[in-house]
Amino acid sequence: TNRTFTMIKPDGVEDGHTGAILDKITASGFRIVALKKTQMTVADAQAFYEVHSERPFYGELVEFMSRGPIVAAVLEKENAVADFRTLIGATNPADAAEGTIRKMFAKSMGENAVHGSDSDENAAIESAFHFSGREMF
Ligand code: GTP
Ligand code: MG
Repeated sequence: TNRTFTMIKPDGVEDGHTGAILDKITASGFRIVALKKTQMTVADAQAFYEVHSERPFYGELVEFMSRGPIVAAVLEKENAVADFRTLIGATNPADAAEGTIRKMFAKSMGENAVHGSDSDENAAIESAFHFSGREMF
């Protein structure tokens, strides 16, 4: 069993998909270890996405991710990181497989409804960015 980190991004929250997305996540076998609604400041989003700071879409990404509340969660399941990325689908919803969260709820390459960590190491870093030890169960 291991863990991954996810955020329902501002578009998913604004569009009222929080409940449906969490339901799909738990129905797919993920256990919720930590969960909260929060909003990233511009500085938070810049730090969280530091790895993308040289990419042309960085400014747009930071503005988008800080524009409204998100729902952050730590999830547990065997093979959590890879299985969660399968569940959310491709970054661009146009390429996302049928039945994936991005196919169902994402609008575009930028506004793609959910985040999923890309490695065990980043899952731990991203979880610690949003949650203290006392918030994870
Ligand atoms: P995350 O789970 O959110 O990390 O997505 P990902 O791993 O599928 O994609 P990646 O880490 O490469 O990019 C991070 C995020 O940047 C994406 O989820 C998008 O929200 C955004 N992004 C990536 N490419 C583009 C782009 O070409 N244009 C815009 N506007 N946003 C992009
Ligand atoms: Mg990524």
